Amino acid sequence: MIEFPRDFLWGTATSAYQVEGSPLADGAGPSIWHRFAHTPNTVRDAATGDVACDHYRRFLDDVALMREIGTNAYRFSVSWSRVMPEGRGAVNPAGLDFYDRLVDALLARGIEPMVTLYHWDLPAALDDLGGWLNPEIARWFAEYATVVFKRLDGRVKLWTTLNEPWVVTDGGYLYGLHAPGHRNRFEAPIASHHLLRAHAEAVRAYRAGGRHSIGIVVNLEPKYSASDDPADRAATVRADAYMNRQYLDPIFRGGYPDEMGQIFGEAWPRWPAHDFSLIHQPIDFLGVNYYTRNVTRFDPHGGLLQAAPVLQRRATYTETGWEVFAPALTDVLLWVKERYGNLPMYVTENGAAFFDPPVVEGDRLADPLRVDYLRRHIKAVHGAIERGVDVRGYFVWSLLDNFEWSLGYSKRFGIVHVDFDTQKRTLKDSARFYGRIIGSKGHGLNDSPSP
Ligand code: BGC
Repeated sequence: MIEFPRDFLWGTATSAYQVEGSPLADGAGPSIWHRFAHTPNTVRDAATGDVACDHYRRFLDDVALMREIGTNAYRFSVSWSRVMPEGRGAVNPAGLDFYDRLVDALLARGIEPMVTLYHWDLPAALDDLGGWLNPEIARWFAEYATVVFKRLDGRVKLWTTLNEPWVVTDGGYLYGLHAPGHRNRFEAPIASHHLLRAHAEAVRAYRAGGRHSIGIVVNLEPKYSASDDPADRAATVRADAYMNRQYLDPIFRGGYPDEMGQIFGEAWPRWPAHDFSLIHQPIDFLGVNYYTRNVTRFDPHGGLLQAAPVLQRRATYTETGWEVFAPALTDVLLWVKERYGNLPMYVTENGAAFFDPPVVEGDRLADPLRVDYLRRHIKAVHGAIERGVDVRGYFVWSLLDNFEWSLGYSKRFGIVHVDFDTQKRTLKDSARFYGRIIGSKGHGLNDSPSP
């Protein structure tokens, strides 16, 4: 029988550059995503976040939408370069004011804010100084984080330092699909390491005066070996180390997985031991972003990992080519508990891009595949809770259709449809479905057909 805890957080998630628009308004400085999107041949259809969902100006309407859906939590990110246009030094009061008003609006409607301090939009001025490759960045990040803590910690109880450091380096420094667009095997481990140091410096700064809780958000994608062949198994272990353990092992166990040296070869540096005492410090909770799993086989041409994904014949795939496979969400939450301990967890992102039909008369938009995706995955979260995992909340990615990074506006993840010509919002069936699940504390899932 499915029933979620009374105080469970039911939220939606977004990030600053993906929804806000007005990236340079009121004294904000440019971010690397602003710069990247304005560089030819980086983003599909030459899309940018200049307008996005215009959330910067419409946030009150969007908070009202959250209320209408029935959510009681909202995860958003703060744009570093709105708060500190140069990334360090002078604070831009108008930037901070925006987040202040957003937090007040949420609280006034009974919606708990969860704030992410970094969701990929590094101030361009810091990139000019080397960005995540410059060791000083740990200090810059803690300085910025402290400014935001001071302003909002009285009202914000859930803080996360970084969103998905793996994507920051894999996309931004190894394969170049994301800002700042580097493709360099030697840079990627350095950027990763400084991300971890920055996370840790921010946690340390929070301990000095923060009154609530702080964690980090990682993307986890369970890897299953395609066969019992030792080569496939070894490839799967490498893929798992690279994606799932690269950040969690240093934070919770004080060192990188052994496989990292093998994967990066001569590009894997020797790290100063004292860095790990900083990185290996307690956090209050872990945020897990889960979208899909991966069945892996050995492939000598499969890049650094010498691994390749295996297509699953009978599976459903989303528009971003990700297999829909909910049991792996239960598995991965259990895996975290077993490997790293039973700390509180939130599913900080889960959702799917599917092709949506046009909004029809009467403002209805039927998105049955997304409804089915949510149903299966919320059940999978409950499955983990039943097996003793301390999951305290679930956030759908995303509240709104938005700027999907290098894919521009071509992929829609929202449970609310956005008409990007008019900025009109329309609740999709998935938003109404989610509202019913929330209203019934999950009971509504008991009579649903799918596993
Ligand atoms: C990111 C989001 C992104 C989503 C879908 C996550 O990796 O945190 O910013 O839009 O996945 O790709």
